[in-house]
Amino acid sequence: MTGNRVPIANHIDQDLLDSNPTILDHVNDAFDLDYDAITLPFTKPTWKTRWQRYCVSNENDVNKGRARASYIAGKSENVVQDRQTAKEAEVWRLTRVYDKNEVNVSKLDECESIIAFASDWLELDSPDEGIRFDSEMALKQEVAYASYLSIHTLILPAPKNRKHVADYARSVMAALDSTSYLQLSVMIPVSDPAELEQSGVSPALSEFKGDPSSTWEVWDAIRTLCDYSPRLGLALDLGQPLPPPCALKRWSSEPTRQIIIPANAFVGNAKGYPVLSKSCQEFIKEQIKTLPTIVLTETYEGIHKSGGSKAYVQYLRYMEKLSNDSATSVEQFASGYMDWLQAPLQPLLDNLDSSTYEIFEKDPIKYQKYEQATYLALLDKEPNSLTRIAVVGAGRGPLVQGAINAVEAAAEGRRIHIMAVEKNPNACVTLQGRMDEWNESKIASVELVFGDMRIIELEDEQKNDILISELLGSFGDNELSPECLDGAMRLLKPYGVSIPSYYTSYIAPLSSTKLYNEVMHMGDAKNAEMPYVVMFQAVNILSGMDKESNRKAVQQCWSYKHPSKYEFVMDRNGNPMTNYHNTRAAHLTFTIPYAGVLHGLAGYFEAHLYGNVWLSTHPERYDKEMLSWFPIYFPINTGVYLPTNSEVDVHLWRLTDNKKVWFEWSVEVFVKADEKRIKINQSKLHNHDAKYNRIEL
Ligand SMILES: C[S@@+](CC[C@H](N)C(=O)[O-])C[C@H]1O[C@@H](n2cnc3c(N)ncnc32)[C@H](O)[C@@H]1O
Repeated sequence: MTGNRVPIANHIDQDLLDSNPTILDHVNDAFDLDYDAITLPFTKPTWKTRWQRYCVSNENDVNKGRARASYIAGKSENVVQDRQTAKEAEVWRLTRVYDKNEVNVSKLDECESIIAFASDWLELDSPDEGIRFDSEMALKQEVAYASYLSIHTLILPAPKNRKHVADYARSVMAALDSTSYLQLSVMIPVSDPAELEQSGVSPALSEFKGDPSSTWEVWDAIRTLCDYSPRLGLALDLGQPLPPPCALKRWSSEPTRQIIIPANAFVGNAKGYPVLSKSCQEFIKEQIKTLPTIVLTETYEGIHKSGGSKAYVQYLRYMEKLSNDSATSVEQFASGYMDWLQAPLQPLLDNLDSSTYEIFEKDPIKYQKYEQATYLALLDKEPNSLTRIAVVGAGRGPLVQGAINAVEAAAEGRRIHIMAVEKNPNACVTLQGRMDEWNESKIASVELVFGDMRIIELEDEQKNDILISELLGSFGDNELSPECLDGAMRLLKPYGVSIPSYYTSYIAPLSSTKLYNEVMHMGDAKNAEMPYVVMFQAVNILSGMDKESNRKAVQQCWSYKHPSKYEFVMDRNGNPMTNYHNTRAAHLTFTIPYAGVLHGLAGYFEAHLYGNVWLSTHPERYDKEMLSWFPIYFPINTGVYLPTNSEVDVHLWRLTDNKKVWFEWSVEVFVKADEKRIKINQSKLHNHDAKYNRIEL
């Protein structure tokens, strides 16, 4: 979010529209009160009356839920319509035209700043088949009319009948298919109060048992049946009590386009002004990062004694400001890149642009940590001694500068000679430009070597005490640090030190409709079989800490150590004869405490630089201000449902031949019954044999 204005809409109900039907007046009033839009019911009660006359036999039956639809006119003894009404109904089904007085909006210029609620009496999931089909027809009519007016979003009434959720979803899909641009949002309550009550524990308490997931399960069923349509979103209704954190967290990975907050979801503070509960504030703060529209309803009802109708929007603007002010530098830096899929860099294959280096160099943490690690390594050298340092993959030189700063700080007569190795010919021009300045130092000298660290040759007396590199990718090893450093070990003296000395890759199962949608709608199946670098936002890590089995939520895959503790068979140039020793495999079991849909794997890394200096993107202990690495995302090409208390086995391989490195991955899902593991689902093997993605050596 960071700086982007959160859209807030005020709901104008039918009574307000009846007292002033001019939509633009309401829009302008809303703008004056610091709203960005209004929401309103799309159709009027007059349309409901006509539709019910056509499609429902009589009011009593509607109320009892026993209504019959007129489409069976003449075929059933339940039909109570006269021939004339039946005929009008058939004409409506054929033509689907509103009377002007049946809709609240009729002009294009009124529609720019409105979000419309579809008729709330539509029963797409009615137990009555006829009502369902006629509701679908009425919905398609609303969709067609909304598209005609260029309205961008229609919010659909919440499904009410779990048994017929497939009917609801099919109608929504039909409505989506009937238009090309209109977005549909399904209104879903954030919780089911009956379900919360059944658990017998106040949901606010952390010892809440069970997994109150019924409203999310309904949403999951609908969007899955609608094939994750990117035009289908969620309008989350906070009119119900918030569920416990485990269930609330689940909504964070869903495509929430609107959050509906009725005035009665606010509580009065000591002075009677409306405020949100602590847990609700936390939830909203997280949610508004993805900029859904907040829809405030019932603001005119006078529910709170102070502040009047504008107090609600003022309060939310205040929350927005607090949230912007507290954004970390990473959030500010990554604003606009959140949940954005980027192909991982291949700095070995490609020559990076100066602007890319410039972005790296903005990191306030990484270079400081390297400098600190180099300083500690130099302190371990004798005073009044010369230390030879190789900075391999020097880029535009920030690690060279860091080493010079470090030796100045280490003092006591310590001196360094730096060999800056870089294979990017363009970056070498920048490095040349810095040589004079560096060589002005009395205690440091710098030489520039253009070439590939795996190939350049060095006499024994030129070998280095310390080798500094930053070839780490988002998963640690995915920019080929292991392979490059294998070759660079020839530049290091026996018992020399590498910074970093080792690094570890971590993985966790992840849910994110946003990322899954992006991958699946790129239009090519291969996109679901390659890793991406992503600054995660609308994601939910599905695994939990399992104390019984001592399983962690985020687990370690593998590590690389430099210099390696093993001796390799070398070729004539002093490089390992094959890259076989750099293959890795991880088979990890994760516990899934709360149901969710698996859309992929989230990857992180940790690197030990020297002494007590570490770099980390691990979600439980990452450096909040570090900008250089976003996590990596390995997609799964189909959403895999994980029930509450299930287990997911993740299989991940780092494979190699002498030309390339690639990852393959798959998952299997198990539930436990009578101490046995029963397999219920699995994915395909992704990127088999580097079919879709490879990292060139
Ligand atoms: C991630 S950048 C880091 C640049 C710089 N050290 C920094 O931290 O800003 C990695 C650098 O290593 C260079 N590089 C990658 N593989 C190399 C190799 N085998 N030999 C020499 N340079 C290499 C790339 O061209 C790139 O400049």
